[in-house]
Amino acid sequence: MSQQVVPVALHDLQRPVAGDLERVASELRRIIAADFPVIVGVNEHLLRMKGKLFRPTLLLLSSRAAGSDDPRAVTLAAVVELIHLATLVHDDSVDHSALRRGMPTINALFSHQVAVIMGDYLYSRAIIELVRLDDIAPLRVFARVTNEMTIGEMRQLEAHDKLAYSEDQYDELIRAKTASLLSGACEVGALRAAVDHRAALARFGMRLGMAFQIADDLLDYTAAESVTGKPSGLDLREHKVTLPLIAALGSMSAADRGLVAELMTTPDPADALVVEVIGRVTAAGGLDYARRRALELAQQADAELDILPASPARDALRDSIAYAVERRS
Ligand code: IPE
Ligand code: IPE
Ligand code: MG
Ligand code: MG
Repeated sequence: MSQQVVPVALHDLQRPVAGDLERVASELRRIIAADFPVIVGVNEHLLRMKGKLFRPTLLLLSSRAAGSDDPRAVTLAAVVELIHLATLVHDDSVDHSALRRGMPTINALFSHQVAVIMGDYLYSRAIIELVRLDDIAPLRVFARVTNEMTIGEMRQLEAHDKLAYSEDQYDELIRAKTASLLSGACEVGALRAAVDHRAALARFGMRLGMAFQIADDLLDYTAAESVTGKPSGLDLREHKVTLPLIAALGSMSAADRGLVAELMTTPDPADALVVEVIGRVTAAGGLDYARRRALELAQQADAELDILPASPARDALRDSIAYAVERRS
């Protein structure tokens, strides 16, 4: 794969599973249904927030591509989106974020307490649904990856020595907090497929997931809130060290490093300081480095698909790689 990837639209790669994705939305509604007023209110708000459905898309495409022929695929796809949604509700509370999918977050619109309780409510509904399926295999995968995600979020919170944070530590963090769930989505899609196909798809999801999170971290530096539907520059304001900064620190002058240190020790840094640091990171090549790394991971993800038979679903999985690294939101 060259360093330039042809952009792919989300609806193009979702086309082979478009009908199933519509059913995912109604499954999700069924699984989270409640009769307690506040929960009903939060659920309605969450169902109005439209995400990309990237994880259900991966699960359904993996199922098709591996010839898994699993009648539970739509329900499992709704479960993976629900686990994602639960982690987003908690993540926005942890990150003090007020905007998600272009709408107010649960912590902003309701409260941090409601966000904590609702994250647990949604996650436990996902578990109830998995138990209802009465098959330990998907439960085993999702239980493991959600636990990994909590460790990833904790790694982020506990990254105190900002200027010394290494790329290896960052890799470990994004594997746990993001790639584990994308890998789990692909693996669960292929639970009834041949063992080597299932393993290849799990590895594919891991590489793709790392590239996906690097792209997210780049968007935090480069994209407008009106496009992503979530705040820009929030990672720096929250003192989060991501790959563009890690890469840039290696070649920054003492003065620039001093500015980064100032930002990292300033509670609620001013917009001007954040913008200044973004400029220095860009000038030091941090964004270019992160883009190259995402493309390298994309290439590794692509290679994992070679074992699968040619099909429109496999082509769409290949397109999902290009989408993940070139997306604008
Ligand atoms: C956001 O995920 C959280 C990350 C792992 C970066 P998405 O970018 O898939 O968010 P939605 O579901 O489309 O809103
Ligand atoms: C991903 O990290 C969050 C989870 C995997 C739960 P971020 O904190 O960067 O995600 P956004 O930017 O809030 O979507
Ligand atoms: Mg966040
Ligand atoms: Mg982010």
